[in-house]
Amino acid sequence: MNKTENQSRRDFIAKSGAALAGSFFIHPVAEALSKFDRPGQKMKLAMVGTGVRGLAMWGRDVIRAYKDQVEFVGLSDRNEGRLRYGQTYMGLNCPLFANADEMLSKTKPDVLIVTTMDSNHHEFIVKGLLAGMNVISEKPMTTDEVKIKAILDAERKSGKKLIVTFNYRYSPHRQKLYELLRAGEIGTITSVDFHWYLDTSHGGDYFRRWHGKREFGGTLLVHKSTHHFDLLNWWLDSDPEEVHAFGELEFYGKNGPFRSTTCRGCPHASKCDFHWDITKSEHLTKLYVDNEKYDGYHRDGCVFREEIDIYDKMAVQIKYKNKVQVSYSLTTYSPYEGYRIAFNGTKGRLEAWIKESQPWDEKNEDELVLVKNFGERYTITVPQGGGGHGGGDTRLKDKLFLDTNAADPWRQSAGSRDGAMSCLVGIAARKSIEQGKSIKVQDLTDIPLAVSGRGL
Ligand SMILES: NC(=O)c1ccc[n+]([C@@H]2O[C@H](COP(=O)([O-])OP(=O)(O)OC[C@H]3O[C@@H](n4cnc5c(N)ncnc54)[C@H](O)[C@@H]3O)[C@@H](O)[C@H]2O)c1
Repeated sequence: MNKTENQSRRDFIAKSGAALAGSFFIHPVAEALSKFDRPGQKMKLAMVGTGVRGLAMWGRDVIRAYKDQVEFVGLSDRNEGRLRYGQTYMGLNCPLFANADEMLSKTKPDVLIVTTMDSNHHEFIVKGLLAGMNVISEKPMTTDEVKIKAILDAERKSGKKLIVTFNYRYSPHRQKLYELLRAGEIGTITSVDFHWYLDTSHGGDYFRRWHGKREFGGTLLVHKSTHHFDLLNWWLDSDPEEVHAFGELEFYGKNGPFRSTTCRGCPHASKCDFHWDITKSEHLTKLYVDNEKYDGYHRDGCVFREEIDIYDKMAVQIKYKNKVQVSYSLTTYSPYEGYRIAFNGTKGRLEAWIKESQPWDEKNEDELVLVKNFGERYTITVPQGGGGHGGGDTRLKDKLFLDTNAADPWRQSAGSRDGAMSCLVGIAARKSIEQGKSIKVQDLTDIPLAVSGRGL
């Protein structure tokens, strides 16, 4: 970038900051947590679902980072072995419960953390809200429109709040995209090209686990794309109106050249590119392999199992209430991982090619490109945040546990409305594939859809 471009870049970054300074939103969820104001007392947490995500992100790491702010009063999981291992892994001596109802009534936490499988999040969210506590749920909020309604009804009835952990909103480059779009750098946004690539390692891993069955994860259009659809809803600040999608399963599952039940004991191990030895990880062995006897769940399922019934390539068209048109796709067997995105607007284009894993080019910064119509081209480098999901995991938890009163200028706190809207795009896409027609989002929900994503 030459001197003039640098000067101009400083100008527009200053301008974006000024535009944002006047718009400090207080999200209802942030407000709910900020009401936790018992000086000198810790926030009492309970967790249901002591799997890999619960134990690390919401268990051990929370205890390490926020030990002065929070304490765990109970853990629950239907797999008794995993529950006991979870307690040891987290270094706790709090009570363990096979039954979540019993945990809630005996321990009366301030906040329930839900980290079970996607398909039963709603069960525990509803129980928690109706028992009088705020709830933090992992994404996706849930997997179908009936469960969405049950959650929203319980929230209305209880007066308590659900927080959905959309960590992707918090990574620095996505926040910068939000800031530049809100500052009007490309004028009115008219369309978006958004293409996400999962590599053969991470992408393949979805097909080993419960995620490969639509009854548990709602297909990757819900389980995975909920992150991406939430980003779109947030960046565009509008509600999705109509969805048309295509999807196929043509690489994993029944398409494989051979198959077994698990990688362990597989007769095709030597010739399978997806062969993975779970026993090389002591943690995963103790978490899953040692506890198969309680529920029969295999963490190292064959990616070519016949029972897999989700899509491995998906293309989705979305029309938003503010008339923005989106072309989205998800591919699950790429040689590298990341995404390409471009926002087209009346005054220019904002684009990025974010590489999340590629062995040949390790970087610690992300690059955005802003091109003005009839004008200049700027490259904006954004340092990556440390920790999981581009720094998003830590920043999300700081907001929840460390500084609940912090202002939310980028509107990163997400609640039930955001959780519902992102799931609804995936659910509509799934229905569109099944029914061969486009689906109106308003037909799936009683939330009044609005031009602004904040319901305005
Ligand atoms: N935000 C992110 O980036 C991110 C990353 C990973 C996982 N997740 C989410 O976290 C959640 C958990 O994923 P995971 O990878 O830890 O899965 P996992 O299979 O390791 O853990 C799920 C746990 O829930 C328990 N469980 C399932 N149904 C239950 C029930 N009815 N009652 C009690 N316990 C039950 C299982 O026994 C298991 O221990 C999922 O919703 C997933 O989408 C989010």
